[in-house]
Amino acid sequence: MRFDVDQVAGQFGILNRRVGDHPLHYLDNAATSQVPDCVLEAVASHDRTRRANVKRGVHRLSEEADEAYENARMEVAKYLGVGCADEVIFTGGATAGINLLAQSLGHDMRPGDEVLISQLEHHSNIIPWQMLRARTGITLRFAPVTHDGRLDLSEIEGCITRKTKLVALTHGSNVTGSITDASPIAALAHDRGARLMLDGAQTAPHGPLDLTSLGADYYVFSGHKVYGPSGIGIVWGRKELLEEMPAVFGGGEMIEDVGLERSTYAPPPHRFEAGTPPITQAVGLAAALEWLSSQDIEGLHLHLRGLTDQLIQGLEHIDRGQGRIRILGPNRGEQRLPLVSFSVQGMHPHDICQIMSDHHGVALRGGHHCAQPLHDLYGLDGTSRASLAAFNRQADIDAFLGGMEHCFRVLG
Ligand SMILES: Cc1ncc(COP(=O)(O)O)c(C=O)c1O
Repeated sequence: MRFDVDQVAGQFGILNRRVGDHPLHYLDNAATSQVPDCVLEAVASHDRTRRANVKRGVHRLSEEADEAYENARMEVAKYLGVGCADEVIFTGGATAGINLLAQSLGHDMRPGDEVLISQLEHHSNIIPWQMLRARTGITLRFAPVTHDGRLDLSEIEGCITRKTKLVALTHGSNVTGSITDASPIAALAHDRGARLMLDGAQTAPHGPLDLTSLGADYYVFSGHKVYGPSGIGIVWGRKELLEEMPAVFGGGEMIEDVGLERSTYAPPPHRFEAGTPPITQAVGLAAALEWLSSQDIEGLHLHLRGLTDQLIQGLEHIDRGQGRIRILGPNRGEQRLPLVSFSVQGMHPHDICQIMSDHHGVALRGGHHCAQPLHDLYGLDGTSRASLAAFNRQADIDAFLGGMEHCFRVLG
């Protein structure tokens, strides 16, 4: 079916609500997207009809819940373009996934080993590696970023050495919107005996992926940014790699055999899912991915690209060549995620967000977006960010630009 934004927006009941006297213009999707009604219904229906714990019971509801949970794993594998559902570990989100990887992979790391991240990263892909460094004495290196907010591919070759154990990079920046060209980095990493992890928190929301052609060894994303529930995310890892990795959380469900002195653990993915997993959330995540996969993805990309270009063009127009608005990331017309972070000389991002919300019903994000090192690099305390999703329409862009004109009048 051809992409039809009105038809899509009609599936998000929350868009009927108002913010004060204004319709809701939700442009904070890079933080958390909204959830289509069919996903809300899938979640409610699971709890209404087959809520039970998984694996522990042999009663009917438990069997059905278990089947729904494992089917959700298959749906995620399909979305990621990988053949094996056992390569998908359910976690609490992207942050939980990166921490899981840092703890498990870190087990074998020693002083002198290197982990390469970049200056573009979200704090979730910085702090777990800093913690690992404090624990093990590894060296943390930082790949540089270009002036237009991309990973500097010309520099990356020199950053990956024979000591590099892991390259852990964002697949798409939550601040600049740049998309990482992963396959040449994967080739370089593999050539030097390192693995590549991609943080897909911002790329997974834009349609099914093909992890095999990306060449990644590990991938993480969060449910709440892909039109699904919060409290769920995934780690994907190549089977043979997951099999080598030690468990990091102990408890029920992750075991094979338990004795008072010694225990053995289940194979992946269950080895990494100690305790009761987020069952209902997994069902919701699967419904969200199924919903997204059923859209005309090419049409969706074209639509979002058009709106993003308009948003940038509108900001440029409002600036009228004064150079007060600084837009981060690739230039208009170049490939980027549908999000735009910008700073305005003399205006605090929180003031912009407040006026936008209170007077225009526009939801934006203001601050450092959990990417403080990147803002430091640009010499900025924070930026305002508009981020788009499938349900966003022309009216949202118009409200945003009208709101920005207003900010210039009152905060001038
Ligand atoms: C690039 C990136 N990585 C990681 C995260 C962390 O995701 P979560 O808070 O869902 O764990 C985010 C969230 O904004 C993000 O944008």
